[in-house]
Amino acid sequence: MSQGTRPRGRRVLLIVSGGIAAYKTPELVRAFVAAGCEVQVVMTPAAAAFVSELSLATVSTRPVRKRLLDPEEEGHVGHIELADWPDLVVVAPATADLLARATAGMADDLAATVLLATRAPVLWAPAMNTNMWRHPATQANLATLRTRGAEFVGPDRGQLACGWIGEGRMIDPPLIVAAALAQLEARGPWAKKRVLVSAGPTRTYIDPVRFVTNASTGAMGFALAEAARRAGAEVTLVAGPVELATPQGVRRLDVETAEQMYAAMESELSQKSYDWVAMVAAVQDLEIDGGAGRKLEKSELLTKLPTLGWRTARDILAALTARFGRGAPAGSARARFLGFAAQTVEDGPEDRLQQELIRLGEAKLRAKGADAIFVNRVGAPGVGFASATNAGLLLARDGDEIAVRASGPPIAKAALATWLLDTLAAT
Ligand SMILES: Cc1cc2nc3c(=O)[nH]c(=O)nc-3n(C[C@H](O)[C@H](O)[C@H](O)COP(=O)(O)O)c2cc1C
Repeated sequence: MSQGTRPRGRRVLLIVSGGIAAYKTPELVRAFVAAGCEVQVVMTPAAAAFVSELSLATVSTRPVRKRLLDPEEEGHVGHIELADWPDLVVVAPATADLLARATAGMADDLAATVLLATRAPVLWAPAMNTNMWRHPATQANLATLRTRGAEFVGPDRGQLACGWIGEGRMIDPPLIVAAALAQLEARGPWAKKRVLVSAGPTRTYIDPVRFVTNASTGAMGFALAEAARRAGAEVTLVAGPVELATPQGVRRLDVETAEQMYAAMESELSQKSYDWVAMVAAVQDLEIDGGAGRKLEKSELLTKLPTLGWRTARDILAALTARFGRGAPAGSARARFLGFAAQTVEDGPEDRLQQELIRLGEAKLRAKGADAIFVNRVGAPGVGFASATNAGLLLARDGDEIAVRASGPPIAKAALATWLLDTLAAT
């Protein structure tokens, strides 16, 4: 698939050149993988003297690419496929030599050829002896690469392998990853978008100590908030009572009841324009007007419970889309809404289950006035509330057309969150 049509993601092509700091690159690869990136390593022949190919292949879970003129590695114009593949090229460590070759536009090995052929942005992490770094030739090369759009991170000051103390040390791997993620975010479809996410269960209080709730852990909503933030969005998370840490950079508003959740989301949407609202929370369907003002005795529970003024709860998604989504007055800025629906479907052949989920999802999508809905099957293995993984169908509406995308077999909720964002951005 061409660069232009593939949803933007987190594919990092890491070029390792032949400096002593290459010994730190397995750590760098691990840090990229931990940040949700796919990593393909390319090594220069000199790099192989400083770090083992086996280590890099193992931590990146892909064979390392090294040779340009090798029929086995090259396959069908493999170096160009390699150059087209990444969202970002990172060169770490970047030697004085590779900087010079890239500046001159040389293509004398696989690394230099990929640097010449790629259209992806390039982030360089130079590492070399202080005098090599300060040399006018190196500084002129940097200046030229900058004018062509290259970005640089480091080098740092410190003790160098050659014994000198000064500028030239490769910047630490976590800082390279942070700079790379910032660069990926700044270019992706979610950059600077405003996203409102609801997560977790809500509680309906029967009395001051008892409440009705559900099995939602908040994990899917938190994963979506985190993925959107990482993709560069400004994210507000309205969280029901859950024990999860707030994802870094996400603004969190804690609520307990369905009415508090509605009020928090309504207030956000009234004050700011949001691009997307993801209603991931499992909101209680029953509310009680008031509840018992005091703790009920065990002996009176059965008689008092039916008299507490139960009513069905407000449908938060439908209420919000009517005011801030599809139902917003013509000409006013409107948010797009993603709903989540867990559906019970009777067992049967896979294609019939799928058709039934699509039917239920379509009906919900229209009834709620949402722009997209993610439906999954309650009770399917590896899916839903109590599971670390999830899978389902995303139905996205464009005018009267509804596109259906399947997420595939159950995957970690963080990975599913990234899939949802990529798929929404591409629809
Ligand atoms: C022990 C040793 C350490 C080296 N460290 C560096 C270094 O940190 N930075 C650098 O630019 N070159 C360094 N070099 C020189 C490069 O390895 C040399 O310029 C090589 O041609 C670079 O090839 P490449 O750019 O294709 O990887 C070092 C050489 C040796 C022998």
